[in-house]
Amino acid sequence: MIKAAILGYGTVGSGVAALIDQNSAEIRRSVPEGIEVKYILDLRDFPDSPYRDRMVKDVNVILEDPEIKIICETMGGKGAAYQFSKAALEKGISVCTSNKELVAAFGPELMATAAAHHCSYLFEASVGGGIPLLRTLNTGLSQENITRVAGILNGTTNYILTKMNRDGADFDTVLRRAQELGYAERNPEADVEGHDTARKIAIITSLISGRTARYEDVPCEGITKIDRMDFACAAALHAEVKLLGLCEKDGDGRYAVITAPFLVPEESLLAPVQDVFNGVLIHGTMVDDVVLIGRGAGRDATASAVVSDVIDAARHPGETVPCPWKGGDPMPLVPVAEQKRRFLVRVPAAEAGLAAQLFGAVRPVAAESGAARPAFGENGKSQPEQKEEYAFVTPVLSEGEFAKKAGEFSSVHRIRLLDPDMV
Ligand SMILES: NC(=O)c1ccc[n+]([C@@H]2O[C@H](COP(=O)([O-])OP(=O)(O)OC[C@H]3O[C@@H](n4cnc5c(N)ncnc54)[C@H](OP(=O)(O)O)[C@@H]3O)[C@@H](O)[C@H]2O)c1
Repeated sequence: MIKAAILGYGTVGSGVAALIDQNSAEIRRSVPEGIEVKYILDLRDFPDSPYRDRMVKDVNVILEDPEIKIICETMGGKGAAYQFSKAALEKGISVCTSNKELVAAFGPELMATAAAHHCSYLFEASVGGGIPLLRTLNTGLSQENITRVAGILNGTTNYILTKMNRDGADFDTVLRRAQELGYAERNPEADVEGHDTARKIAIITSLISGRTARYEDVPCEGITKIDRMDFACAAALHAEVKLLGLCEKDGDGRYAVITAPFLVPEESLLAPVQDVFNGVLIHGTMVDDVVLIGRGAGRDATASAVVSDVIDAARHPGETVPCPWKGGDPMPLVPVAEQKRRFLVRVPAAEAGLAAQLFGAVRPVAAESGAARPAFGENGKSQPEQKEEYAFVTPVLSEGEFAKKAGEFSSVHRIRLLDPDMV
């Protein structure tokens, strides 16, 4: 038996322990010796757990046991998780993690440590939960020139946006409900402000480019300002509001990356991705579009991804599983001001004339679809109970140009449009 240990017996860690037990026959198809969890590290006691006899509180028990070949880091955070992972890799113990925060911040360093000590730092579960996304990028699509990845990468925000759309509820009400159901954390900032998605699209960009894309360099906007009028406009445009992580490679090989709410056309393969599901659209120049959809979080789905890495590590004893992300200095990303797209814009109704003056051929939103009538009157003006607004879609222009023109209005609310060619 190959001996493994789990660091952190929480949601994901408990799922890993259960999966390794329950699917031992399936695991033996790939690793005939089998895999056994010898230790579980946690701060708390679990007297009722079937694994209580394997619980330890001192990480050194694990690190100093020469039998341990693989560690699953399911603690989260960048403190102890970093120290324990680094110490394990320095001893030649492979580490499989679900911790995107740590991967986004220290991934290249930890991969280099693994390579220096003939073991692996693997992180399939850090992006897309149970979706086999990173392995698909690293192996199944390794022959491809991937020019675009658009992903719904955060289940919490997709759940919130889905409920806001279906129930007509506002953001705060749906967030409270999501917290009651355990879909959103008590401190939801990383999810709703887009940081979680930014980390994940940075990891994806690093994998497809081979160079480090720093998540701090990814322009990031969350969903806290999305309101009911946005959904009415989306309906008028036959689109869905989705928080996307978007990465596009331009003709010069530079990467334009952003995290923000987008209007995604109904015909997009991403539009049907609802509730807590994640969906990722990958475009390769040969294979065309590939779409992966699945549970982006949750105990069992995330544990499934962690254990897929455990199997990979077990099949490569004494060596490093190859990874296209080579680290090195962070690469410069295309500045957000240069990124080009169309925008749905809402301005005070009295400033409708200014819109045409500044943007030229704008498309008033309500004028072209009856679906917007509950929210807007004729000529794109909102009904009396709503704030009097004029909603329109701009031609394609750069974010920099848009920001300059937007400054001319007394107030502006905008959402980006996903280019129909990109879906
Ligand atoms: N939950 C998901 O669906 C999901 C999906 C994808 C990725 N992830 C990622 O997976 C990681 C774990 O998430 P989770 O939801 O499983 O978190 P969790 O339920 O809070 O579990 C973490 C566990 O680690 C323990 N722990 C923390 N610091 C420790 C330390 N220094 N020594 C020993 N034990 C320690 C915690 O103990 P205490 O409770 O006593 O602090 C807790 O039992 C995070 O990075 C998260 O972002 C989670």
